[in-house]
Parts: sequence; structure tokens; C-alpha cells
Amino acid sequence: MGKYQDIFDRSIRDPQGFWGEAAEAIAWDQKWDKVLDDSNAPFYRWFVGGELNTCYNALDRHVEGGRADQVAIIYDSPVTGQVRKITYRELLDQVSKFAGALQGLGVGKGDTVVVYMPMVPEAAVAMLACARLGAIHSVVFGGFAPNELAIRIDDAKPKAMVTASCGIEVKRLIEYKPLLDKAIELAKNKPQHCVILQRPQAKATLKPGRDHDWEALTSGAKPAACVPVQATDPLYILYTSGTTGMPKGVVRDNGGHAVALRWSMENIYDVAPGDVYWAASDVGWVVGHSYIVYAPLITGCTTVLFEGKPVGTPDPGAFWRVISEHDVKVLFTAPTAFRAIKRDDPNGEYLKKYDLSGFKYLFLAGERLDPDTYHWASERLNRPVIDHWWQTETGWPITANPMGIEPFPVKPGSSTKPVPGYNIKILDPEGKELGANQEGLVAAKLPLPPGNLPTLWQADQRFKESYTEPYPGYYFTSDGGYIDDEGYVFVMGRVDDVINVAGHRLSTGALEEVVATHPDVAECAVIGVADTLKGQLPLGFAVLKSGVSTDHGNIQKTLIQMVREQVGAVAAFKKVAIVGSLPKTRSGKILRGTMRKIADGESYKVPSTIDDPAILGQIETALKDIGYGGK
Ligand code: COA
Ligand code: AMP
Repeated sequence: MGKYQDIFDRSIRDPQGFWGEAAEAIAWDQKWDKVLDDSNAPFYRWFVGGELNTCYNALDRHVEGGRADQVAIIYDSPVTGQVRKITYRELLDQVSKFAGALQGLGVGKGDTVVVYMPMVPEAAVAMLACARLGAIHSVVFGGFAPNELAIRIDDAKPKAMVTASCGIEVKRLIEYKPLLDKAIELAKNKPQHCVILQRPQAKATLKPGRDHDWEALTSGAKPAACVPVQATDPLYILYTSGTTGMPKGVVRDNGGHAVALRWSMENIYDVAPGDVYWAASDVGWVVGHSYIVYAPLITGCTTVLFEGKPVGTPDPGAFWRVISEHDVKVLFTAPTAFRAIKRDDPNGEYLKKYDLSGFKYLFLAGERLDPDTYHWASERLNRPVIDHWWQTETGWPITANPMGIEPFPVKPGSSTKPVPGYNIKILDPEGKELGANQEGLVAAKLPLPPGNLPTLWQADQRFKESYTEPYPGYYFTSDGGYIDDEGYVFVMGRVDDVINVAGHRLSTGALEEVVATHPDVAECAVIGVADTLKGQLPLGFAVLKSGVSTDHGNIQKTLIQMVREQVGAVAAFKKVAIVGSLPKTRSGKILRGTMRKIADGESYKVPSTIDDPAILGQIETALKDIGYGGK
């Protein structure tokens, strides 16, 4: 038996022993009483009775242990033309002072803080400062519109908000302060304090009494010490798309999270303390939480925080420049980034300009790695290109090619094998386990390993309904796929109404809720259609109320603008077809699968349950008008 199989089997047979040993790599204020408490299933709790501080593990510990002068964060920002290196000592200083500043605003253990920041080191400082105080951060991705921010404010009820005056996209500057003000205006729950980082590119006007200038507040603050918390206390809430407009508040605990991330760095990514690790994502996404901030810092690595894009900042060589300039060992990003590079530099000319000798692995996740992109990347880079699958809910990979344990030959289209701790099974719709090569629903036998969501924020029932009640005894991933006869897992895509646009997870239900509010729209649907760059793009269908005579072009433009304003530019909602009716089954269910096939130009069968087959012809015509379909 190989090394992987031994380790995997033990993780399933003896999770207590396995994770108890892994937990030795973390500094505890008080050791746990029990590794796994399964007395209240499906709410599993890891390291019950243990106390620790995540910020201590990410910073103080390394400063005390000899890494004070090692660079903790390399901030590389082609959009502002700067590179800044922050050592562990400097980062600790900044974080403890900012924690002191938050404390001065009354933020303490168990309070929530919403962070709405661009990719600047202060975003990580804010997160770590919350962790230091035992406060719970909730980072909201900067590309979300005020309405989405307001929804999260109302759910998390933050005592304070942390933001910046602006974010910088490739071609435009985005002033965050008006977005923040609008969100607070929309929210029912008004936060008492907002801390604003003034960036030189745009100064925000502060509202006296509520708004505080980051610099002024922090310079006068007394550094705060680490507050020990229970392993099971929440470290953060991260909202992610579900099937409705109300996002799910994924909760992460402190203890299990630190243990799992630390373990993953060596065993999955083959990274050791001192290595330079770069997750080219955004702190607003789970990849950013886990692999820009927490995992590399807890491990004592140097993490790269990149404020730029794979292309256009300034060219498709941006990733290669960063890797060579900072001697990056591991790059982790989404396949869409590589599709963008491939589009702009198909022959990899920019690659030839840089010395990539220290670069060992490319890890990709966030969406399925299509075999074309895999081949392009592995042929150009000539080093392992690893697809690994995970979700906001899990916080770290579910399936991967474990580079630190036993590298397996790659099978394009597969994210390789279950990571130790994840007992992956394929189920049929009735919940029966399927055999090798049979496609079905991907599930994980409970308990999930540490680091996974213990519940949803103040929504235990929704947690059960979404994840553990559909198939009792299993965590339901909402992904479909199969396992081949060598144990390789192939994740083929979501089986619910969640779509993946440039690695960003979006709910078609949330987009539909916006489209439906247009006064002329009687009925609508939004589906995800294939896109060569972004993987998927949302495509809307609107049926107008009878008697509406306004020209269609105008309504289409308005609908696109409404989604941009209410959900955000990140939704990339750019196409809507105006149709006479939506195709439905006789029981009234919209035939989204058939509509998707027509839009993607795939052949399709007219479903036997369809109410009126003639509608499909109308859909084809409407889609052709906006450039979709073809067969
Ligand atoms: N703040 C404000 N707006 C933002 C934003 C932010 N933090 N991030 C993105 N946006 C805006 C963009 O400016 C763009 O607006 P536009 O419609 O005016 O052009 C829109 O949201 C879509 O952005 P994005 O998804 O980044 O698409 P893009 O077309 O600008 O770039 C890629 C395409 C592939 C280069 C880009 O998506 C990318 O780098 N993806 C990497 C994926 C990733 O990091 N995934 C995270 C999970 S690992
Ligand atoms: P998020 O919660 O934003 O990380 O999105 C999670 C979803 O992205 C998963 O449920 C999958 O549908 C998809 N996903 C992420 N990584 C992969 C991968 N490597 N292969 C296939 N799908 C993936």
C-alpha cells in the first residue's frame, strides 16, 4: 500500500488520533479535552475544551520563534506601481495596533466586524486584528454592490466596518466610500463605527462621529494582546451564494481551521516554513482567507498579496514576473486566470522572459480545470499542474494530488484523490452509494475533517437543510461527478442553481430576484452558459408583461444595469433574451437544462414533460438574436 493510502485510511478509521497528532503543530493556550465531539451530530465540534488564538499562531509565535525579520507579506501592486515587504515583526506591530484601535471602538470577543477592502495589506491586518481580539470578521468581496453588502451587514450585525477609500481595477478606480454609505443607508442594522483607510488615489469624505481615519485611529492606539478563544469559537463568517438571494453565512471555527490549514500546507502543497507561497485570488473569497492570509502565515511562510490581474497589469507576463521577482515556490489560482493568459499569450512568449527556477507547483481551483487549459499550462510550465477541488464551506481542499504525501500521475479532468479526512462517495438521487465510474452526486461521509463549517451563521436549520438532511449521514456538496476505478475523483459541476463565473460563485436565484423587480417583467430565468474565458456566464431570459410596448433593447440595457448596481460588476451579467414565454414542464417547472443546451449550441431532446414544445423554437430565435445557440 502506498503512503497516501495508509494516511488516508488512518484519517477515516481514527480521526481523533489523526487530527490530534496534526494539532500538535499549533500553539494552544489550553489543550483540548476531546479531539472530536460528535454528541450533537450533524453539528460536529473539533478540539472541544481547547483554547488558542489564531493571530498568535499566525504572527507572535513566529516573531518569538526567530522569524521576526522574515518577510511575512509581499504586497505587489502593479495597479499602483508598488512592491512593499512587511516582516513578521512589522506585521505584528501593525496588527496589534489596529486591534488596539478596534478595541478602542468597543470591539471585543464575539463581536462581528465587516471588512470591505481591496487587495491591500491592511485587509489582512484587519482580519488578523479581529482574530487577535477574538472578534469575528466577515470580509465582503469588493466587487459586490451596496445592496449585497447591506444584506451581509444585516445578517452579521457588525459593531464596526473596515474599508478603504478606493479599489483599483485595470481600467478604473472604484470609490468604496459611496458604496459603503449606500450600503449602510440600505441596511436596517447601522454599524456604529467605520474605519476608513485613505488611499492616495482617492480620498474619502468622512462622516463625523461614525467614520474614523485608519491612520489617525491606529497611530494613537495601544497595542492589544491576544485574547484566547475556544477552539470552537467562530473566527469568521464568509458569505457565499446559495440558491436564493440570501447568501449563506459560512462559519469557520478557530481550532479546527488552524489545524487543517497548517496540515494542508505541508501535505497538499509541499510547502515548508520560510517558503514563498502565492494565492492569486482576493481576500474576499475563501481562497484568499485560507491561502493568502491564514495558512501561509500560520505556517511561517511568506505570502504574496497581489493587487492586479493575470492580464492587463500590464501584460500576460504579470504572473511570471511576480514568481521570478519574489521567488515564489507555489502559485495557486483559478483556471480562468490561465485561460486569460492563454488568450493573450497563446505561445507563452512572456514566460521566456523570466527566470522561474524556484517555481515548483501550480495549483488550480475554484472551477473545473478543463483539459485544454491543463495541457496548455503543463506544457508551457513543464512542472506539476494540480487541479484541486474545494468549496467555501470546506475552507480547504476536498480532493487533491497531495504533493507532500505522494504525487500521483495526473488525469486531466480529475482533481485526483480525496484528501485525508474526506470520505468521498458518489450517491444516486435516492442516496444509494454508486460504484466506480458511475456519475451521481458527490457527498462526503460525516464527520467532515476539521476546518469545515460547523454551521451557518445563526442558521442551524438552514445548515441541516442544505448539507446534511438531503442525505443523512453525509455532507451533500451540491456537485455532481464520479470516481473512476483507480479512485480518481472527477467533479463535473453543480447540480443546483449556483454558477461559477471566473472562479466567482454566484446564485442564479439572486440574479433572478433582481431581474424580476423590473416593472415590465412578468417572469424571468437566469441560467449559466459556457464561456471560453470565464467558464460560465449568466444569461437572462425575461418575459414581458402583456401590453408593454417599450423597445426591447432598452429593457435589456436596464436589466443589465440593475444587476450591475444591485449585485455587482462581478456578476458579469451582460446578456438578456426577451422571450414570449419560458419553456416549462406541465407541472410548471422551468426547463433550465434544455435552455442551457440551446444556448450552448448542444443537441438536446425535447423533454417528454414539456408543456408546449413550440416555445423551444422561440427560445432558439431569441438566443440567436443575442449571439447564442447555433445548432
Ligand atoms: N472591486 C470592484 N470591482 C471588481 C472587483 C473588485 N474587487 N473585482 C472585479 N471587479 C469588477 C471588474 O472590474 C469587472 O468590471 P467590468 O464589468 O466593468 O469590466 C467585473 O467586476 C468582472 O471582473 P472579473 O471577474 O475580474 O473579470 P475581468 O473580465 O475583469 O477579468 C479575469 C477576467 C479572468 C482576468 C479575472 O476574472 C481573473 O483574474 N480571475 C481570477 C479568478 C480568481 O481570482 N478567482 C477567485 C477564486 S480562486
Ligand atoms: P466556492 O465556494 O466559491 O469555492 O465554489 C465552490 C464550487 O466551485 C464547487 O462546489 C465546485 O462547483 C466549483 N469548484 C471549485 N473547485 C473546483 C475544481 N477543482 N473542480 C471542479 N469544480 C470546482
